[in-house]
Amino acid sequence: MTTLKINGATKSVDVPADTPLLWVIREHLRMTGTKFGCGKGLCGACTVHIDGVATRSCVTPVEAAEGVEITTIEGLDPNGQHPVQKAWIAEQAPQCGYCQSGQIMTAAAFLAENRNPSEDDIVNAMTGNLCRCMAYTRIKKAVARAAA
Ligand code: FES
Repeated sequence: MTTLKINGATKSVDVPADTPLLWVIREHLRMTGTKFGCGKGLCGACTVHIDGVATRSCVTPVEAAEGVEITTIEGLDPNGQHPVQKAWIAEQAPQCGYCQSGQIMTAAAFLAENRNPSEDDIVNAMTGNLCRCMAYTRIKKAVARAAA
């Protein structure tokens, strides 16, 4: 049995220790805001925060997430009022929307560390989160708006 602290709650799951955290979040805890993209740590769709650090849950075994604070998009701000979420809405950042929770989680962790980023800082911070719709310009604007 693995006990997780996720979005301020404690949850126990009975899964093999090497089960990817993404699977546990989606299939066992039924929080589907975190997305499966590549399953190989390459696209960023599955990004969550572990102790505030943006982390790819598809390549994180659940045993590595025991005893730390996990935050998913559902827990970033349950009312959707996190500054990054508000900026995303204001800039109408998503197109299809599939990658957006990962994008938002990466942006939120980045801005928690850097409140005054340059455009290059934003591009560098977000470069690992892929968007098949190519909404990168709006995503960049939303991150900049959230920082302002
Ligand atoms: Fe985890 Fe692509 S699904 S990085």
